Amino acid sequence: MSLEDRLTGRTARCAVIGLGYVGLPLAIEFARAGFTVDGIDVDEAKIKALARGRSYVGDVPSADVAAMVKAGRFRPTTDFKVLARADTVNICVPTPLNKTKDPDVSYIVAAATEVARHLKPGQLVILESTTYPGTTDELILPLLEAKGGKVGRDFFLAFSPERVDPGNAKFHTRNIPKVVGGVTPRCTAMAKALYSQTLETVVPVSSTRVAEMVKLLENTFRSVNIGLANETALLCERLDIDVWEVIDAAATKPFGFMPFYPGPGLGGHCIPIDPFYLSWKAKLSGFEARFIELAGQINGHMPEHVVRRVVEALNRNGRAVKGSRILVLGVAYKANIDDTRESPSLDILELLEEMGARVDYADPFVPRLDFAGRIRRAVRLTPATLKRYDCAVIATNHREFDYRVVLANVKAVVDTRNALKGRKSPKIVRL
Ligand SMILES: NC(=O)c1ccc[n+]([C@@H]2O[C@H](COP(=O)([O-])OP(=O)(O)OC[C@H]3O[C@@H](n4cnc5c(N)ncnc54)[C@H](O)[C@@H]3O)[C@@H](O)[C@H]2O)c1
Repeated sequence: MSLEDRLTGRTARCAVIGLGYVGLPLAIEFARAGFTVDGIDVDEAKIKALARGRSYVGDVPSADVAAMVKAGRFRPTTDFKVLARADTVNICVPTPLNKTKDPDVSYIVAAATEVARHLKPGQLVILESTTYPGTTDELILPLLEAKGGKVGRDFFLAFSPERVDPGNAKFHTRNIPKVVGGVTPRCTAMAKALYSQTLETVVPVSSTRVAEMVKLLENTFRSVNIGLANETALLCERLDIDVWEVIDAAATKPFGFMPFYPGPGLGGHCIPIDPFYLSWKAKLSGFEARFIELAGQINGHMPEHVVRRVVEALNRNGRAVKGSRILVLGVAYKANIDDTRESPSLDILELLEEMGARVDYADPFVPRLDFAGRIRRAVRLTPATLKRYDCAVIATNHREFDYRVVLANVKAVVDTRNALKGRKSPKIVRL
């Protein structure tokens, strides 16, 4: 039976490498569609949790994992040998930056090396990790072709960017349109055949490079527009204008404007990182991506600006930062999720501690935080605990926070998220 028949008949065996925020939902979606899925991760703790039917990704209920494991359709493992029996392989490993803010593609190379070692004739390999244009062609293709086969005939290779938005109740893996670009038209057709079994909309493009660039444009678009919102906030502060009111009014324009909001800085595994994959690649081609670098600078300075506002809030009450007790509300990088990667809250926390403040945090999604050399526990927001603090910084606007209790009991509040919209109090210092 051809690969295409096995895909459309949902009898194909799938493998997903990297079971994080991206790979786990995808693997469960494939299993739910009827495929048998080997889920591979190097993190033994994750594999053990999954084998016991426990999910560690907010958007994937444990009940779904347990049901798929029980049905034998989802098989978590640390053993790459299972790749030898896979008809399809999706690579969903991390793509961080190294210390000099250059792309670290070592995870992709490690995963692709394993794929090459176990490459099976007729296999479809799809990279989903966000990366610079050219990665699939320049890094993965040579590894696979070194096995002697020809792409588009003996095996198939494509790139398909992941667009998952953790915590988004409306859009999830299944109903977010999926862009796919293969090395050859047959590769694109195979990738389309796979995703069409589980996802509502598949958008084919002409090449892997176009598909890689699509993702970077999407994330750069967000970074640059958030940078503009942040710069506008800094300007409005000088002009004594409420930036939030300006943005809300501008957003009433029914065309040609899309609201972006200022905040304490960028967080997560995507927006602060991905644009640098693009600017790095641009530099290699002798092109300077000025918008990207500028947005990165403006967004990267926001935690320092928030700290300045904290200094101001304490000053109003005759206090110095040194020795003050400060509570950071929310260490996740955005509302209602548990992801603290690249979170600007952590920068704020660290900067305040460097200035001698005694800093605690509250976050219902992050009960324990291993940061800056020690394990911290989240504080519960009760009147008694809140009364201890000289200042609270609203860094993430989780729905669980009760701001009435915060406002009633803390001496000063710095609001970086417009969480106290419309509320007036001399205690409040806004971003
Ligand atoms: N998190 C998001 O919202 C999001 C959205 C779109 C795209 N992406 C992109 O998707 C990719 C994965 O992101 P994520 O958030 O799922 O990361 P993650 O850190 O949550 O998950 C990656 C997983 O890969 C595993 N891993 C690392 N090296 C491995 C290897 N060699 N073999 C097998 N497993 C390995 C890790 O243990 C981890 O469980 C990144 O390129 C990211 O930029 C993420």
